Amino acid sequence: MPRLPAGFVWGASTAAYQIEGAADEDGKGASIWDTFVRRPGTVRDGHTGDVACDHYHRLDEDVALMRRLGLDAYRFSVSWPRVLPTGAGKVEPRGLDFYDRLVDALLDAGIEPTPTLFHWDLPQALEDEGGWLNRDTAHRFAEYAAVTAERLGDRVKRWITLNEPFVHMSFGYGFGVHAPGRALMLDALPVAHHQLLGHGLATAALRAAVPDAQVLIANNCTPVRLRPDARSDGDAAAASAYDVLHNRLFNDPVLLGSHPDLSAYGMTDPSWGGVVRDGDLATIAAPLDGLGINYYNPTWVTAPADPAAGLPFDLTEPQETYRRTAFDWPVVPDGLTELLTGLKARYGDALPPVWITESGCSQPAGTDDRERIDYLDGHITAVADAVARGVDVRGYFTWSLLDNFEWAEGYHQRFGLVEVDFATLRRTPRASFDWYRALIAAQRA
Ligand code: GAL
Repeated sequence: MPRLPAGFVWGASTAAYQIEGAADEDGKGASIWDTFVRRPGTVRDGHTGDVACDHYHRLDEDVALMRRLGLDAYRFSVSWPRVLPTGAGKVEPRGLDFYDRLVDALLDAGIEPTPTLFHWDLPQALEDEGGWLNRDTAHRFAEYAAVTAERLGDRVKRWITLNEPFVHMSFGYGFGVHAPGRALMLDALPVAHHQLLGHGLATAALRAAVPDAQVLIANNCTPVRLRPDARSDGDAAAASAYDVLHNRLFNDPVLLGSHPDLSAYGMTDPSWGGVVRDGDLATIAAPLDGLGINYYNPTWVTAPADPAAGLPFDLTEPQETYRRTAFDWPVVPDGLTELLTGLKARYGDALPPVWITESGCSQPAGTDDRERIDYLDGHITAVADAVARGVDVRGYFTWSLLDNFEWAEGYHQRFGLVEVDFATLRRTPRASFDWYRALIAAQRA
């Protein structure tokens, strides 16, 4: 069994739209996901998050599961349209009441609440004004952060601003496979900058409301690999370009206060057209208490077969044979060690303590769960290896506590330590739940 230093924080993660349900209850406004799922052909089998795990009504049962698991911390997200139904202006106190109850239940169970303020469910009213293509959304986000922190900040100390701004930009605005469903390709780049500006403004708002707040951002990062048969300089250039777009575009501004030069990698620089204004980078680079990392697998790239098609790389399959998750994602635990040591090498002293804010896998329903246990074991061992090599990692949050609404895949991908029967909403802990519980208990022994 892997072992991490004393004080290491053991957690699990979820997100509001993926588990809460109660889609229009207690004054909640519509989010872009409420809209997107109703568009034919967007989500497998037309699934929606209308009910999801019904966590909104089963909070006590779910916190009891977390207590049984022995979690130190729980990462959930706050639904912006529950708190501010139209994204700005009038606050819905019943929305805040729900998170208030959740925070109290967690603290009562000895579990540290770790909310994320934005896990992709933008209020539809803000999307109608341009969403994250509109700079104003960054300011609205900071106002929402302030309102939420004023209500919860007496008890909540660790805050995460954004979840995976890269995935939201690329899937939501670049390819259109997630809400809001816009397919702008590289013209989606302003979404990166506006989200990060929102992160910087929200960081200031959180610190103003909660003087002892710890503030993090959760970035999805991937080590970029070449296939063993890659030969050309073009392949290496493609790998750098992908690394810039997926990793550096989101880590450099936050940690270094600078943008990678996108034009040098065959992509338009976001400062082009006046998106980046004087002072923005200083706001974005406000000191952080931690960098959250969501890791699933490495990415393999080659030089683009058709450079005129728009992107300076092609994504490709590895040549090596890896085990695969139900999502068909390769299982590569050493990619996590590579990622963490690579971050340390790249950012040095500018790298704050790292938190693994998501790591987990989907496995077919009804199996004995051995594969999920191996996945967790391998990835936690990979974290321990990175710690042994000098990377300061403070915690591990597995994705996910419960099976849930997996975005465009609906309920087909099962990431939970706890199985959810979506017909009856019955929760059944899996073998991985018992394994994780034993791991956490052994660390404390
Ligand atoms: C992440 C996302 C989560 C979850 C996970 C598994 O990108 O933040 O919400 O869906 O992937 O696919």
